[in-house]
Amino acid sequence: MHVHVFVSATIVQLFVVHLTTVFGSCSAPSPHVVNSNQIPDYYWKEYIGIIPQDAVEGGTDAVGNPTYVGQAYIQKYELLPGFITIGCKTLTTVAYALELTPNENVKILCARDKRKFEWVPTKKEDLHMLIGRHFVVGGSEVGKTLYIGRVHYENRIIVGKFFNSVPLVNYGLAIPYQGKPVNFNSFEVLTYNVSKYGDETIPVPCIDVRSQ
Ligand SMILES: *[C@@H]1O[C@H](CO)[C@@H](O)[C@H](O)[C@H]1NC(C)=O
Repeated sequence: MHVHVFVSATIVQLFVVHLTTVFGSCSAPSPHVVNSNQIPDYYWKEYIGIIPQDAVEGGTDAVGNPTYVGQAYIQKYELLPGFITIGCKTLTTVAYALELTPNENVKILCARDKRKFEWVPTKKEDLHMLIGRHFVVGGSEVGKTLYIGRVHYENRIIVGKFFNSVPLVNYGLAIPYQGKPVNFNSFEVLTYNVSKYGDETIPVPCIDVRSQ
């Protein structure tokens, strides 16, 4: 009787140890205690043709309205950042010698505190000097990370993409313009500073729909 209980208990213990081994470990362990204030608090929301209140403005369209930073997964072209125009379901971006305007798998960049973003002027050859800045990751192409930039061009501000790895960094910023990519050596980089404005809570704007 005692032996039986002992054996059962041992089996249960072995089972628990086994479960812990299976579920309590992974191939890339991480410290699970982190200061969450140090994690950039931006996110990509599903874009369904409506601009969310927390969407991040990037540029301007032909009539001076804001455009928004977006991203789309396109089969064969990977994950490309670009811009979203109010009233359009599409994202406008570039790949190779083409302007692309996908209307599927489009996401829009949003953030809890948009004041933490900063568009920092630079040149492609000076990117490495922006030490300590977090570049907002826009996607990837040919297996390399793409970042987000913009330029003032033809009376507009146009959002595009750039690489920050040699030799692709030499393309500079590529923006979609009139059906084709146009490249720039000088542009502004979209950065995010977790420390800016500390962790103040942002009052959520309250819109009373009854009065409209
Ligand atoms: C980020 O913001 C903090 C607080 O305003 C500032 O001290 C720091 O210099 C900023 N970092 C960069 C890289 O601009």
